[in-house]
Amino acid sequence: MAALTSKKILLGITGGIASYKSAILARRLQDAGADVRVVMTDGAQAFITPLTLQALTGNPVHTELLDEAAEAGMGHIELARWADAILIAPASANTLARLANGLADDLLGTLCLATRSPIFVAPAMNHQMWAHAATQANTQTLIERGVTVLEPDSGHQACGETGSGRMPEPEDLTQQIIDWFARGGSPDQSHVISHATNLANKRVLITAGPTVEPIDPVRYISNHSSGKMGYAIAEAAAAAGATVTLVSGPTQLSTPPGVTRIDVQQANDMLDAVLSHVPGSDVFIAVAAVADYRMAAIADEKIKKNSDEMTLTLVKNPDILKTVAQRADRPYCVGFAAETEHVEKHARGKLLRKNLDMIAANHVGQSDAPVFGSDSNALDVYWGDDGHQHIARAPKNDVAAALLAIVADQLNPT
Ligand SMILES: Cc1cc2nc3c(=O)[nH]c(=O)nc-3n(C[C@H](O)[C@H](O)[C@H](O)COP(=O)(O)O)c2cc1C
Repeated sequence: MAALTSKKILLGITGGIASYKSAILARRLQDAGADVRVVMTDGAQAFITPLTLQALTGNPVHTELLDEAAEAGMGHIELARWADAILIAPASANTLARLANGLADDLLGTLCLATRSPIFVAPAMNHQMWAHAATQANTQTLIERGVTVLEPDSGHQACGETGSGRMPEPEDLTQQIIDWFARGGSPDQSHVISHATNLANKRVLITAGPTVEPIDPVRYISNHSSGKMGYAIAEAAAAAGATVTLVSGPTQLSTPPGVTRIDVQQANDMLDAVLSHVPGSDVFIAVAAVADYRMAAIADEKIKKNSDEMTLTLVKNPDILKTVAQRADRPYCVGFAAETEHVEKHARGKLLRKNLDMIAANHVGQSDAPVFGSDSNALDVYWGDDGHQHIARAPKNDVAAALLAIVADQLNPT
């Protein structure tokens, strides 16, 4: 029996150049046994005609909301109830924005509000449009509301540029829908990771959290790092089969299952703990926000507030990542960078300067995209001369899994 037999799929098509693939997608869904009905936005109809989809599916194509004749047939509420799943492919930047804002001024937007069925979106657009903070924020809103975002592919785009934003092939999208139903309609991680990451037999060493540099017995220098990203990576690495050691500054988090945790306070302690575990490690991922400076001398007694001004003499802390990356027995070294501008240039500069294998850059400084303490993150990952993958804003666990999938691909090239 075909995998989607008796499944009713409502295929939403929006105004993107990839809509030419939607005709084949309709066919592939039907090949898998699905009953397919199509809704097209006005934008979609500028790229591909309803007639094509009607001929392929054998069903009338729905395009109008405020149309008496359409409502007398299968109206918008009936369509919303009819669907076992709604798949919007391609999903334009405009449609993502409209859905994130709950707009109901066309048929597709209204259906998405009226349905209780799962909604899948396959964003497809120019890579700059996809990477834009507005699009990423809209996508994140949809993820948080339970929409499954089928991550776009990277590669050559219709606009002549290269990057992330291509609609996956119809066969891949169909398979993701089949897999979703096969899992019994369970929540899905496929928006960030589409294949199982294998780190069996690998030893992964990770740093996380802040460091704390004492000033005197009661005061210290530190930062806002929550440790969530490093802990998420540790958890994902253990889930992928790795033996994981997590060297952690002070955090409020509990140790992920299967992870060995070493607690440290100061940068020098972190360096010692890391160096004692480097031999035998296959991968080192430095996520900790290590304080750049520490006190030249920690005061033995609490410093009195006798004067209006105070000068503290600080000395530079060791660069833990650079120290590891320069060793002869270095593992595969992954760094993190927080950049406010020229993300690629600065991240690649750090990659070279510190002799790293890979760097994951956070774009910080956007008020709508906090990093510290947040449960979600977005990364641009760079490696080698021109390796690059954008990981869309998603819960940190998903981002961690996506990052490890890239690391695993680099460690075990197929
Ligand atoms: C030639 C051309 C190609 C376009 N390709 C895309 C695209 O791939 N993705 C996208 O998000 N928008 C694309 N746009 C812009 C959308 O068509 C436009 O935002 C439209 O309002 C989308 O409406 P809809 O979301 O209601 O279908 C393109 C526009 C033109 C003129």
